[in-house]
Amino acid sequence: MMLAPRRLLSVVVLATLLAAQFRPAACDESSETRSTVSPPPRAALSDGAFHLIYRDESTANGAVLVPLTVDGRSHAWEGFASPLGVAQLELAPGKHRLAVGERSWEVLVVEGDEPVPEGWHRAAVHAIDEDGDRCAACHETQSSASGLVVGEAKSYKACLECHSAIEFEVIHSHPLEPLEHCQMCHGIHGAPEPALLKLPVKKLCDECHES
Ligand code: HEC
Ligand code: HEC
Ligand code: HEC
Ligand code: HEC
Repeated sequence: MMLAPRRLLSVVVLATLLAAQFRPAACDESSETRSTVSPPPRAALSDGAFHLIYRDESTANGAVLVPLTVDGRSHAWEGFASPLGVAQLELAPGKHRLAVGERSWEVLVVEGDEPVPEGWHRAAVHAIDEDGDRCAACHETQSSASGLVVGEAKSYKACLECHSAIEFEVIHSHPLEPLEHCQMCHGIHGAPEPALLKLPVKKLCDECHES
């Protein structure tokens, strides 16, 4: 299979677009930089136990995050430095309303392969190891007086700490090297396709291979 330079360029473009996807997922009246959310609004999740991750740039100067409510009841934020709000939730199957100040959105917990109602999109999130490194498994982190600061995502080598390169080649039937940028295809904090894929498989492969 040939890989034309134009194709390589489009990979870079796709990767950039996909990397940006986490932000607009939360789009509503607020400006792009104001807030991002995982899981995204109207996500149908197959597991009710997940980390809610909220980022509100308007609190970046040390302002305190407004309280979180889950189905109308207040829920504590964990000790993360602004602009991040993080909370571990465990929700029963059904619809739930999450709200941070005036911003509110719904998620749905579905059971097994139960079909997802119209207007909702099946979304999954990567497990976050509660007892281990948590965010630090994949992010640069630093503790500070106001709580844990979560920085950029680490390189794919962090992924390979848990998913070995051998496992990679078996699962993907593909050499690792051109697919090192895992988040080109996988959305860790919310992806609509099975195996945490951001787009249908064919679209992802078509970026580099003629179909
Ligand atoms: C399994 C790996 C993994 C774990 C664990 C993880 N993240 Fe991430 N996170 C990523 C990757 C990769 C990205 C890059 C965005 C993308 O393309 O999906 C990201 C993106 C983000 C973003 C969006 C950044 C932006 O600028 O929009 C935030 C916020 C975030 N993570 C917070 C957290 C917090 C808080 C935790 C712990 C509670 C956490 N992450 C745990 C892999 C992880
Ligand atoms: C070109 C897109 C693409 C890239 C880039 C990619 N993957 Fe995947 N990944 C897939 C597809 C497609 C599957 C589903 C394979 C299947 O089920 O047959 C998958 C499946 C997986 C699975 C198993 C999912 C499951 O359900 O068990 C893991 C783990 C995984 N990928 C990790 C990685 C890691 C780590 C990287 C980066 C080093 C990466 N992937 C890069 C497309 C990609
Ligand atoms: C701390 C260990 C750890 C790290 C680091 C890690 N993963 Fe995972 N990953 C897991 C575990 C555990 C599972 C769940 C496996 C299962 O359920 O069988 C998983 C599942 C997955 C799946 C399949 C999810 C699904 O729903 O099918 C994909 C894809 C994946 N990881 C990709 C990545 C990528 C990409 C990175 C790096 C950004 C990464 N992982 C980093 C431990 C890790
Ligand atoms: C980022 C660009 C890129 C993406 C995306 C990509 N590939 Fe590839 N693929 C390559 C390159 C480059 C090679 C040649 C690698 C080599 O020979 O070392 C290759 C080789 C292959 C081969 C031949 C493997 C071998 O062992 O010789 C197959 C089959 C293949 N890709 C299928 C896929 C499928 C299926 C997908 C989607 C899940 C995909 N590729 C996504 C770049 C890509």
